Amino acid sequence: MIPTTTAHSGLQLPVLGFGTYKLKGRAGADAIGRAIEQGYTLLDSAFNYENEGTVGAAVRASGRRDDLIITSKLPGRHHERDAALATIEESVARTGLERLDLYLIHWPNPRVGKYVDAWSALIEAKERGLVRAIGVCNFLPEHLERLQAETGVLPEVNQIELHPYFPQEEQLAYDREHGIITQAWSPLGRGNDLLERDEVVEIARAHGATPAQVLLAWAIARGAVPLPKAASVDRQRENLGALDVALAEDEIAAITALGRPDGRLADQDPASYEEM
Ligand SMILES: NC(=O)c1ccc[n+]([C@@H]2O[C@H](COP(=O)([O-])OP(=O)(O)OC[C@H]3O[C@@H](n4cnc5c(N)ncnc54)[C@H](OP(=O)(O)O)[C@@H]3O)[C@@H](O)[C@H]2O)c1
Repeated sequence: MIPTTTAHSGLQLPVLGFGTYKLKGRAGADAIGRAIEQGYTLLDSAFNYENEGTVGAAVRASGRRDDLIITSKLPGRHHERDAALATIEESVARTGLERLDLYLIHWPNPRVGKYVDAWSALIEAKERGLVRAIGVCNFLPEHLERLQAETGVLPEVNQIELHPYFPQEEQLAYDREHGIITQAWSPLGRGNDLLERDEVVEIARAHGATPAQVLLAWAIARGAVPLPKAASVDRQRENLGALDVALAEDEIAAITALGRPDGRLADQDPASYEEM
């Protein structure tokens, strides 16, 4: 069993989940099925990954639907309230499940300015039982404050880019103060040079662990829920091994020190980036 963390609403999520971006079709369903067999219970997905059907097929084949937390996300082009509700219904239908467990707004798209509309649709979807819990991705404090001010409902989850090059100290602290669970996307740096950094490799060696395990243990130790994506069963199992790595405070600080202001993987500052 993976330990859990709790949001202001009482929602409990495991401290480590599974990313599915690019896992599609039969090979994707097989990979997700293997991840479920290894013990992952929190599965990430999105309307825009075009793999909600694949995730749903893997979940249905697993026979363990009730143990699993299935996530999807609302794309920017469907932020209008009615379109958002239809999209959520469509997401649920694509999975072949009765409902989803967690539904997130994928990006705030502040220039479009409709994320509060989208949020009221998610609130209604939760009230109607289409989804069990609701949250956002890539929201900055100013976006979260607007949701709170205009709807009175704070997200249960904020899924953000978070890895040692972009440690997100301030957003993590903000989310923690408000009882919002922070999920970490691209926690392994999406296969960049983080796994080869001397600072990471040395700490891994000291723990008899792998660099990937150290990156994930670092995210968990800081209170985030990393969502590593891995196609192979070996890497899926390796990444779960992060749960057995207990980093010391100075090791956590040394990894956090790799952070840099321009540490995002791509030019995706939520204050200006638009994704439809
Ligand atoms: N909300 C958002 O805006 C947003 C944005 C991006 C991502 N996400 C979510 O976050 C998830 C994770 O992010 P990501 O897929 O971008 O990147 P990631 O999980 O940081 O990295 C995935 C890459 O790392 C490799 N990998 C996995 N385990 C490894 C290991 N133990 N050792 C070495 N390499 C390993 C994978 O290769 P193989 O698969 O080939 O093994 C893949 O190439 C996504 O899948 C998606 O669900 C959300």
